[in-house]
Amino acid sequence: MAADSAVNLGVLISGFGSNLQAIIDAIERRELAARIKLVVSNRADAVGLERARRHGIDALVIENRKFPSREAFDREVVTALKARDVELVILAGFMRLLSPVMVQAFPNRIMNIHPALLPSFPGLHVQQAAIDHGVRFSGCTVFFVSQGLDDGPIIIQAAVPVRPDDTEQELSERILAQEHRIYPRAIQLYQEGRLEVRGRKVYIKDDASQPIDQVLINPPLR
Ligand code: GRF
Repeated sequence: MAADSAVNLGVLISGFGSNLQAIIDAIERRELAARIKLVVSNRADAVGLERARRHGIDALVIENRKFPSREAFDREVVTALKARDVELVILAGFMRLLSPVMVQAFPNRIMNIHPALLPSFPGLHVQQAAIDHGVRFSGCTVFFVSQGLDDGPIIIQAAVPVRPDDTEQELSERILAQEHRIYPRAIQLYQEGRLEVRGRKVYIKDDASQPIDQVLINPPLR
């Protein structure tokens, strides 16, 4: 896509929609050259729907339970997204597995965010799993969706420290604050045409990578 034009987004949600809000805010602050053409929720009670409406964004409820199969539901969602000329699909707390119908309709054009440092802790309830495992760092990952669960090419990650006595809520909030920073950034990199997927890796053009001597150690060395 042309690097100078805003990218058309479709955002899929199931719940609170704080990542949706972070994307809306980044667009409004002009840090992200994107237009949200449509928000789709598979649940009528998703708080995120209100956020969309408050910002004048077209929002649709497509309830998965009303469809006979995952594929039939995905077909409906794909039709709604294509009808609005969506180029990049953003999963933001969308609690449904995607069928090949969706993944093939938007190859390497679906992003998801996961509240752990993939490939550690895929799946659900991962903040508690990280605490229970006793890891010293966890974080969040934005990746391109492939057919495997939480398995696609990784675009950007943020690491946060984990304390042994963290509660699930404390760690979730710490991670979520970073989600809200890295998701808009990943979308902006896409909009600038800087993401190139080769095999399971994402190469970022003109990437100012972390200096390789900038190491995080937890607990810190004295
Ligand atoms: C986030 O933790 C995200 O990583 C996960 O679901 C949660 C969604 O939160 N996929 P919100 O609905 O964006 O507030």
